[in-house]
Amino acid sequence: MATADQVKALVKSHAEGDDTRFYSVALQVAAGAARNGHGRFAQDLKALVDGLRKRSSGSAPRVGPVAVARPRGELAQLLTVSYPEALLSDMSLDPQVRQRLERVLLEQRQADRLRSHGFHPVRKLLLTGVPGTGKTMTAHVLAGELRLPLFVIRLDGLITKFMGETAAKLRLVFDALAETRGVYLFDEVDALAGERAHGNDVGEIRRVLNSFLQFLEAHHSDSLLVAATNHPQLLDRAIFRRFDAVIEYSLPDAAVAREVIENRLATVDMADLIWGEIGEAAAGLSQGEITAAAELAAKDAILVGSGTVTTATLRDALRLRRSRSAD
Ligand SMILES: Nc1ncnc2c1ncn2[C@@H]1O[C@H](COP(=O)(O)OP(=O)(O)O)[C@@H](O)[C@H]1O
Ligand SMILES: [Mg+2]
Repeated sequence: MATADQVKALVKSHAEGDDTRFYSVALQVAAGAARNGHGRFAQDLKALVDGLRKRSSGSAPRVGPVAVARPRGELAQLLTVSYPEALLSDMSLDPQVRQRLERVLLEQRQADRLRSHGFHPVRKLLLTGVPGTGKTMTAHVLAGELRLPLFVIRLDGLITKFMGETAAKLRLVFDALAETRGVYLFDEVDALAGERAHGNDVGEIRRVLNSFLQFLEAHHSDSLLVAATNHPQLLDRAIFRRFDAVIEYSLPDAAVAREVIENRLATVDMADLIWGEIGEAAAGLSQGEITAAAELAAKDAILVGSGTVTTATLRDALRLRRSRSAD
């Protein structure tokens, strides 16, 4: 039978007009009843919910991804919106990371099916790893693949001197998240964690983080929240637990590095490249740095060379990157 929390969630979602949540809790009740041997009741309840859902989806179509979401008023200072077209195939990734992202996409695409059985898709992701490994790009790719708008939250606009104000601004962002389905990126979220917030009092920032965690906990909509950080060690362990999945990005191995280069050089001739030498020059560089070096070498080949990228040009470009990243 329904637990006290489920009954409260039913009443609350009814009061807020949140049909998706209402039906999803009702289905959780049905699933719980089935587990406890009340099969008949579970079936009746599920049939009831299915029938109601069909009716309500007929009369009020959900806001589709094509709706032009334009943050207005104060929200415009807190969010920027774009409609990325990037795809997962644009990324060069460790096979495990790729697999996990494919799983996120699958759950998001099949969200309705999961919900009809009382489950939720993954919707709170934390991406960690050194700069230039593709965390920000991943948020673009998730939006591109799901054909959803990408909202980037401006943390500098969010963090103010006065806690009351910051909480109110966070609330605006999370209200938007519940209202307009999209991918919401909280980039460099370690800014909420203290050390980097120069000039702000630590207690103040801690309260900002706490209110972020509370909103995170309460997030039940269909939007996908993506937080990214280059400094996971700055984050409290408490924050990791609030995410459905934590995905770690790492520097590329030789195979991934080669893929980054081949993708970036696809439009020029690179048949002569000696990959052993290139691999050595690329070792230790991020996908971002390798991309930049490949672009430089390609432009050199087009502007001053014969149109062919040579091993020497690319190796020099990679070395230049390495000396830059060293200082
Ligand atoms: N895994 C990757 N595959 C392909 N290109 C990448 C990858 N990671 C980074 N890049 C390139 O480097 C740029 C910067 O990466 P970014 O996503 O901003 O890194 P991060 O957010 O992890 O610091 C991207 O715009 C893209 O051109
Ligand atoms: Mg980034």
